[in-house]
Amino acid sequence: MMLLGTQRVNDHGVLEIGGCDAVQLARRFGTPLYLLDEDCFRQTCRGYRRAFESRYPDVLIAFAGKAFLTTALCRIAHQEGLGLDVASAGELHTALKAGFPTERLFLHGSNKSPDELEMGVHHRVGRIVIDSLPEIADLQSVALRLGSVADVLVRVTPGVQVNTHTHVQTGKVDSKFGLCIVDGSAREGVSRLLASPNLRFRGIHCHIGSQILDLAPFREAAEMMLDFAADLHADLGVAIADLDLGGGLGVHYQSSDQPPSLDDYAETVVSAVRSRCDARSFPLPRLLQEPGRRLVGEAGTTLYTVGVVKHIPGVRTYVSVDGGLSDNPRPALYGARYEAIVANKAAQPSTQTVTIVGKHCESDVLIFDLPTPSIAPGDILAVQTTGAYNHSMASNYNRLPRPAAVLLSRGRADLMVRREVLADLVRCDRLPGRLRKPTP
Ligand SMILES: Cc1ncc(COP(=O)(O)O)c(C=O)c1O
Repeated sequence: MMLLGTQRVNDHGVLEIGGCDAVQLARRFGTPLYLLDEDCFRQTCRGYRRAFESRYPDVLIAFAGKAFLTTALCRIAHQEGLGLDVASAGELHTALKAGFPTERLFLHGSNKSPDELEMGVHHRVGRIVIDSLPEIADLQSVALRLGSVADVLVRVTPGVQVNTHTHVQTGKVDSKFGLCIVDGSAREGVSRLLASPNLRFRGIHCHIGSQILDLAPFREAAEMMLDFAADLHADLGVAIADLDLGGGLGVHYQSSDQPPSLDDYAETVVSAVRSRCDARSFPLPRLLQEPGRRLVGEAGTTLYTVGVVKHIPGVRTYVSVDGGLSDNPRPALYGARYEAIVANKAAQPSTQTVTIVGKHCESDVLIFDLPTPSIAPGDILAVQTTGAYNHSMASNYNRLPRPAAVLLSRGRADLMVRREVLADLVRCDRLPGRLRKPTP
């Protein structure tokens, strides 16, 4: 059994997280229920900072909010001294509502709307990350109109292919994201920025992919980015102040996963940056990181109540839970694999292998072939490592209300997102006048 963060099995044989009994949490808040182990999240933020700050003079770690963004998590990220990467007006709005310092915000997006650009400039976010050539002229006119000067990074695709799911390979040439180095559009982007009076070029950004478990691609990306910086220096006479290498470091979804340690990861990145800068006698740029999954993934657990158990002799046992695709689309999107613990039987040995399925009108498989003790309706299943890209990717498919999210620390359980109720599902519905008369 894999136990992560503060997870442990208590004397009653029940799974405990953040000092809270998972079965009591299910009773108190209902299921499905997102749990966030606050101490685990904070420790990982600190470990990430320590790994880089002990090796490099000028670093900012920005939490990639797309992984899991609530006002409470913005507050914690701020308390932990992080910046925040936001990728839409909604994420920016959440950060602003939480009072996150705008100078530590990074505004991303491969197709930012005029309103999003305007919000970024108006609120003077720390950096706006340019993702395409047309965006440069658009942003220049917004900044001119608002009488402002925006600090920008240019997102580039360094052409690094990583061994992760194709849907989350984002740094290769064949990608919708960023400006390509090899075809010259990244250089062209920087050149246009230098000619834009209301935009200040601050540096370059890349994000090569997600759930990456080997270090070589990170080294390769850092080297390619600095080679590109050297070209910019030679061709355009410009130096980069910021080098943003994105996020992407993997986590344990299964006991067999072997994500690199934060120290090994930081050592790889920092040594690549230092050696390339030394070789060219460049001053060290500020180093930016944008981890999402690594900071919050393992801190999350989702509780479900077991419903129908269908045993097909000689074939499979299906165990249905009261959520699924709508609270965790990752198995369907990426074939993502998870482990889970029967929270109320956490001390019992596994005696069977079952398939955990959700309640949606799709095959909706959450976990294939999970070893469990004997399992029955009413049991509480705790799916692990659901902190990243679960709550943030949730939907109302089949008109299921989205679950609550609870923050756990040292025996305290506090609601940070309330559960949706049925009324929320029709809140935005409007009945056109011609449908208002009762049907005869
Ligand atoms: C620009 C950018 N930065 C950071 C991240 C965070 O990635 P991860 O959660 O893998 O660390 C993403 C994820 O898609 C991203 O697109």
